[in-house]
Amino acid sequence: MHNTLILGIESSCDETAASVVRDGCEILSSVIASQHELHSEYAGVVPEIASRAHVEAIVPIVQRAVREAGLTLDDLDAIAVGHRPGLVGSLLIGISAAKGLAWSLGVPIIGVDHVHAHLYAGLLKSSCTGGAGFPARESGPGKAPPLAERPRPHDCFPALGLVVSGGHTSLYIVRSPIDLTRIGATIDDALGEAFDKAATILGLSHPGGPNLDRLAATEGADDRAVQFPIARLSKDSLDMSFSGLKTSLLYAVRGTPGRGPHGKQGYERTEADLTDKRRCDLAASFQRAAIEAVMLKLGRALDQFETHAGAPCRAVLAGGGVTANSLLRARLEGVAQERGLPVIVPPMELCVDNAAMIAGLGACLLAAGRTADLTLAPVPTTAC
Ligand code: KG4
Ligand code: ZN
Repeated sequence: MHNTLILGIESSCDETAASVVRDGCEILSSVIASQHELHSEYAGVVPEIASRAHVEAIVPIVQRAVREAGLTLDDLDAIAVGHRPGLVGSLLIGISAAKGLAWSLGVPIIGVDHVHAHLYAGLLKSSCTGGAGFPARESGPGKAPPLAERPRPHDCFPALGLVVSGGHTSLYIVRSPIDLTRIGATIDDALGEAFDKAATILGLSHPGGPNLDRLAATEGADDRAVQFPIARLSKDSLDMSFSGLKTSLLYAVRGTPGRGPHGKQGYERTEADLTDKRRCDLAASFQRAAIEAVMLKLGRALDQFETHAGAPCRAVLAGGGVTANSLLRARLEGVAQERGLPVIVPPMELCVDNAAMIAGLGACLLAAGRTADLTLAPVPTTAC
């Protein structure tokens, strides 16, 4: 790849994003329009509202990304678009825009798996956002080490991949950015989904994950106030489960179902009965248990890595919205120190949905000749 300029488009859920990335690694622009406000009154994403908002945002967001990169559309070599997984109506908007652009410019179109792209986010470097692709221990605003000190992408493989997002929670053997095998996944809720539902149970507003993280960090919050369950599943299992944890929080907040004033379905209390201190303790206890559950499986996966991959692990790649979580970032830093492995966590702006990761992974697919054509269709599920 030499001076290849790829426009990435992302519209899988409730962010409309576009980005231009040079040579698969250097972010020239990254524009994200979030719909959080539109969905906040429903405590979750409403697919029809999301699709309509994408239609309104997509053209100006693409234009801005190209302009902020200092380019014109004619400079682009290819268009990469997240085409799976996601809300079908939302994906369709990004794909339609990408097809229109690719066709009119006469350049290839590349379909990118959004979940795999989250693992690529930490490998990007940025000239517009102040640094990316740095180890967990260096994370945080203004703490990115000089580019020269960061692990080079080709030194990272095979890697263990951890994706923790609103829709997916999975562990992967990552042989290269485009050669991934899933070795574990949640059997029910995704971690971000569990955070969002827990936040609703605690009476916090949307988006729940970051709000719960903030509440758990309140001074004096006791993360051992409640011993929530941590699902281990069978002895060697790399799968995860968060629905029991979520239900335990519900009962801790509302009391036992059936004992309330409204008969069988009635609970004893509502979240409005919580004191501020109890709400903070519950948030901290929930967060500790949820992150502990992930760390347990990450540790198991590292122990089993060579059996699955046939070679030692050279790095941990983490990505997805929940890698913005302060406790998870701190725990990943611990893994880097204990295991002596580079743990690559994206900077905050690349944890959540963005199009730079789509353009970056798109460049790897383009280099491998894995382009699509105008039959590219939205797919609600991930490839593996
Ligand atoms: O990757 P992402 O932007 O979208 C999906 O692909 O799903 O992830 C969004 C998820 C949401 O569930 C959000 O609540 C969660 O990431 N999230 C967090 C934090 N920041 C975002 N969860 C816990 N703590 C955070 N600080
Ligand atoms: Zn995502």
